[in-house]
Amino acid sequence: MPRKVIHIGSDHAGFELKRTLSSYLESHGVTVHDDGPREYDPDDDYPVYAQRVCRDVLAGKALGILICGTGQGMDIAANKMKGIYATVAWDEKTATTAREHDGANVLCLASRVTKPDAAKRIVSLWLNAEPARAGRHLRRINEIKRMERQNFKRAR
Ligand code: RB5
Repeated sequence: MPRKVIHIGSDHAGFELKRTLSSYLESHGVTVHDDGPREYDPDDDYPVYAQRVCRDVLAGKALGILICGTGQGMDIAANKMKGIYATVAWDEKTATTAREHDGANVLCLASRVTKPDAAKRIVSLWLNAEPARAGRHLRRINEIKRMERQNFKRAR
């Protein structure tokens, strides 16, 4: 596993998987910043933690992992923030392409769909992949950034 810094957050549905993945990443030499929640609260709201992680990702030019029940709510919330390119990965193929093809700087995981061991493999593949530096994938990533500059989406 490469030496990288990860900001990680979840809601209640992702709370246990966040703990599992944090330990896993730390045991592989990754520096993990846990942006919460600190305790299990069945009434917490995923956009709160999406914002915390994404702010830290943007400030530190780091990578982020967000976990909710399906990954989808976190994904939608994260992509409201300019400079964040978040994708859900369900399996090994989408883990790699999320980074290589789409340049995702935030990985969203589905705790109610993806088993812990599969989540570990997904995270590991995503962290070991690098965004395309040339060719069609870079062209597409750059087109998304152009859309962003034209205010197709806005951050608060
Ligand atoms: C919480 O019950 C659930 O809705 C949330 O974790 C997430 O799956 C939303 O996308």
